[in-house]
Amino acid sequence: MGIQNKVAIITGAANGIGSAAVQRFAEEGAKVVLADFDQSAGKSLEKEMREKGYNAVFIQVDVANRESVDAMVEQTLEQFGEIHILINNAGITRDAMLTKMTAEEFSQVLDVNLKGVFNCTQAVVPHMVANQYGKIISTSSVSGVYGNVGQTNYAASKAAVVGMTKTWAKELGRKGINVNAVAPGFTATKMVAKMPDKIIEQMRSVVALQRLAEPRDIANAYLFLASDESSYVHGHVLQVDGGIMM
Ligand code: CAA
Ligand code: NAI
Repeated sequence: MGIQNKVAIITGAANGIGSAAVQRFAEEGAKVVLADFDQSAGKSLEKEMREKGYNAVFIQVDVANRESVDAMVEQTLEQFGEIHILINNAGITRDAMLTKMTAEEFSQVLDVNLKGVFNCTQAVVPHMVANQYGKIISTSSVSGVYGNVGQTNYAASKAAVVGMTKTWAKELGRKGINVNAVAPGFTATKMVAKMPDKIIEQMRSVVALQRLAEPRDIANAYLFLASDESSYVHGHVLQVDGGIMM
């Protein structure tokens, strides 16, 4: 895929889709930074990757906190000297119906899913501009494209990712930086496991492929957009959703 020796920061790397992306990027020869809040899962994935002979390092970060993000980027540069790829994958849910959602639940989701993407992208872009090369991929969601019951906060944050992606594509294209987003459908991770079973079944039944995505399905889309195979794909939101709506 042509990402051999490229330095890739993957946020939310310790679990779910992020950990599948770590595996795929490492298999393709990238140097991977596992950037996550979850130290215990992050460290154990780092160990597993190193035992397999891959070049992977865990750096703890809270993407919602700008100082923490700046420190993560500094540590990445100390470790690898440059940054070619950023995967803005960290995300959370705090689901509730509109009338029951608290201000705190609203802010928590916006802080991680929207401000976290802004923080990480703003922190890495000067280094990418200096190299006239970069790939930025952010994770939206079918909820951000179509809306979803119980997800006012989350859908708003994921729609915002689409807006930021298109804006950055317009600002950064001339600097040699590709900017795109992936909008996954319902994917078999802890995030979906928290949903009521009845609603998971309902979601599965409206997917044309009649199954949830596997984390690796989404990781493969990140990989395509991070590679030079997709050099002319820019400002795009790639839906990887098994045909949930067409
Ligand atoms: N689609 C259609 N109807 C839904 C629904 C959905 N996604 N979610 C809830 N409803 C319906 C319920 O069936 C229920 O209907 P009735 O009143 O007819 O019984 C009504 O809405 C109210 O639901 P609850 O009784 O469950 O209300 P609650 O206040 O106890 O809980 C909730 C509300 C927290 C939103 C809960 O219903 C829930 O967790 N729903 C799932 C929300 C969801 O889809 N989250 C996606 C998480 S995965 C993810 O976010 C990844 C991604 O990017 C897609
Ligand atoms: P997950 O809950 O399995 O993993 C999320 C990871 O993000 C965890 O390792 C967690 O520690 C990390 N994280 C959370 N807050 C953080 C913070 N403040 N700083 C750093 N790391 C933080 O979730 P999953 O399913 O792997 O989701 C990955 C991304 O894909 C998220 O952006 C999610 O919104 C998005 N997505 C997921 C879908 C699904 O159905 N699972 C569907 C569409 C989008």
